[in-house]
This record gives sequence, structure tokens and C-alpha cells, in this order.
Amino acid sequence: MRNILVTNALPYANGPIHMGHLLGYIQADIWVRAMRAMGHDVTYVCADDAHGTAIMLRAEANGISPEEQIANVQKEHIRDFDGFSVYFDHYDSTHSAENKARSEEIYIKNREAGNIAVRPVTQLFDPEKGMFLSDRFIKGTCPKCKAEDQYGDACEVCGTTYNATELLAPRSTLSGATPIEKSSDHYFFKLPNFAEYLQKWTRDEGRLPVSIANKLDEWFENGLNDWDISRDAPYFGFEIPDAPNKYFYVWVDAPIGYMSSFENYIKAKRPELSFDDFWKKDSDKEVYHFIGKDIVYFHALFWPAMLEGSNYRTPTGLFVNGFLTVNGQKMSKSRGTFIKAETYLEHLNPEYLRYYF
Ligand code: 2FM
Ligand code: ZN
Repeated sequence: MRNILVTNALPYANGPIHMGHLLGYIQADIWVRAMRAMGHDVTYVCADDAHGTAIMLRAEANGISPEEQIANVQKEHIRDFDGFSVYFDHYDSTHSAENKARSEEIYIKNREAGNIAVRPVTQLFDPEKGMFLSDRFIKGTCPKCKAEDQYGDACEVCGTTYNATELLAPRSTLSGATPIEKSSDHYFFKLPNFAEYLQKWTRDEGRLPVSIANKLDEWFENGLNDWDISRDAPYFGFEIPDAPNKYFYVWVDAPIGYMSSFENYIKAKRPELSFDDFWKKDSDKEVYHFIGKDIVYFHALFWPAMLEGSNYRTPTGLFVNGFLTVNGQKMSKSRGTFIKAETYLEHLNPEYLRYYF
């Protein structure tokens, strides 16, 4: 009998489950059922991904606290998964005491191992809101083709990519104010320390689909960069140890949520299972993550590097799904082709979708 831990990507706590999400969840649920039918001991966990600027602003727009926001959305997510018969053994949240402790521990171990650097970064700052702006919250005129109303990272008209500081007539989409340039210290995870390790890891037998490993080779050829893991206050997340007013970027504590959800499952329902048996280095237990192809970078580079740097085991393998498309294009809200799980359930039997997938 094999001992297997299976996870799905953790959905953000700022929006509903839609059919694009369900592709990965239903696929994982089918795999879990198959493994159980073969007599293996499978634990299947998930959680809401509760942190980040988007969730903080969504709560503000709804006139509630971030804690209320994530509690409300978690109820809806659980209802939708249930509606589609995706049966997790445990559903947690990354905003938990266990996830905070585990994130701090993994960070400190990496710091002690020399994998963290600190240096100043200059970014656009909204003087009215009193916060730094990520590229999504800045719009302006493209410096190349002069198209108006373009985001801070790339022009949708001519395809040029640029720094937000290069936009002409920039404005904050939060307040309309003209952003100013401001510098602050940021914390970085030194991903290049793991270049050789990861290059081998991604080619280990069964770790990744070969097409994905090939894609990763392009990233290795271009060279890995330090990863900015801090965000300045105001931010909804966990404060970084020994760094007042600096918070872990949501993608630091999100995958650690796989571990803390499992930990809480053991505490609540399976005390005979051992967390360490699963997560210690060279464990003989198996850990699989089901993810979409858009988040491979996080799961095949940052995540194994963070684990290796803190002396934990890395995932046995990743299952990677593509996008659900409508007439060949990714199902999307902005194209108006997006169907919420809840809407589907009002009209159709969920088994039809499971069978179709
Ligand atoms: O892309 C997303 O929707 C993320 N919330 C997935 C997180 S997966 C894991 F790392 F937590
Ligand atoms: Zn342009």
C-alpha cells in the first residue's frame, strides 16, 4: 500500500470557483478515487489562498475586514466543491496560525542557509492611498506606440513590455493620483543558489510532464533571478520575522498552505498519521500537486527550492493541466466566456462536466 498526499492549487479568496478551476479539481478528485480503489492510503487536502493585495482591496470595496472576506468566500468555495463531488479530506485556509508558524520556520531556515538577501527597490507609490502599486494598479500611455490606458507591465496594443516607471502620464487605478517613485528595502529569495539542483530535479523520473520540463529548460537557459518575496505594509498577509512592516508575498505562504492544511488534518482527524514522516527529507511517502500550467514557475522552481533550502522533502511529482477554452480561447471573465461553478449547478448535472473532462 502506498501512502500518498494529494493537493490541488489553492483558490484565491477573492472570487468564485469557475469552470476553468474545476478542470484541475475534478481531475485530481478522479485520480484520488482511482488510487483509493487500488487500495492505497490517500490524503487529499486543499485550502483557500487568503492573502495579498487583491483580497485586501476586495474586502475594502465590500466594506468588511479581510478576515470576514475570506470567511465568506471559503463557505462559497466549499459549497461549490461539494456541488461537484470534489471531496477533500480537509479544507483549510492559508490564514492560519499553523501556516504562519511554518512560513516563518521555512523562511528562517533559508535565511540561516544564506538564501535570503535584502536590498532597496524603487517602485511607483500612490501618495493618496499610501501604498506601493503593483503593475496591475497603474495605467498610462504606452511609451512606444502612445496607446492610452495601458497597464504598468506591457502594452496590449503593440505588445511592448516596459517598467511601470516608463509609462507616460501614469495614474493609480486605485485613487487616480499620479504615482511617485519611492524606494524601500525588499527581501529576496536567492533562487540562483538552486540552479543546478533544480535543473536536475525537474528532469528526475516522474517529476514533471516532459513538455513542461522542456519549457523549464528555456527558463534555465535565460538564467534564474532572485525572487522578491516581500511586500510593504499595507498588505494582508504574514509579517516577515525581524522585518517590521514587511510582509511575505502571497506566493511564499501559499504553497506552504499544502503543508499546514495537512498538519491541521492530522490534528483534527488522523492523529495516527505523522507530518514528519511525509515531509522529512528522503521520506518514502508520496506527495503530488495538481496545478494549472500558469503556475508551473512557482511549483517547479520556487517551491522545491524553498523546501530544499529548509531541509524538507520536495514533491514526488506535479500534474499539470492546461486551460479550459471556449472556441479556442482561454475561458475568461473579460471575454465574457466565464461560467461560475454556482451558475452551472443551477442548470446542469455536475456529472456531465465530470464525464466530459
Ligand atoms: O493561481 C492561483 O489561483 C493561486 N491561488 C494558486 C496557489 S497554489 C499554492 F501554491 F498555494
Ligand atoms: Zn504600445
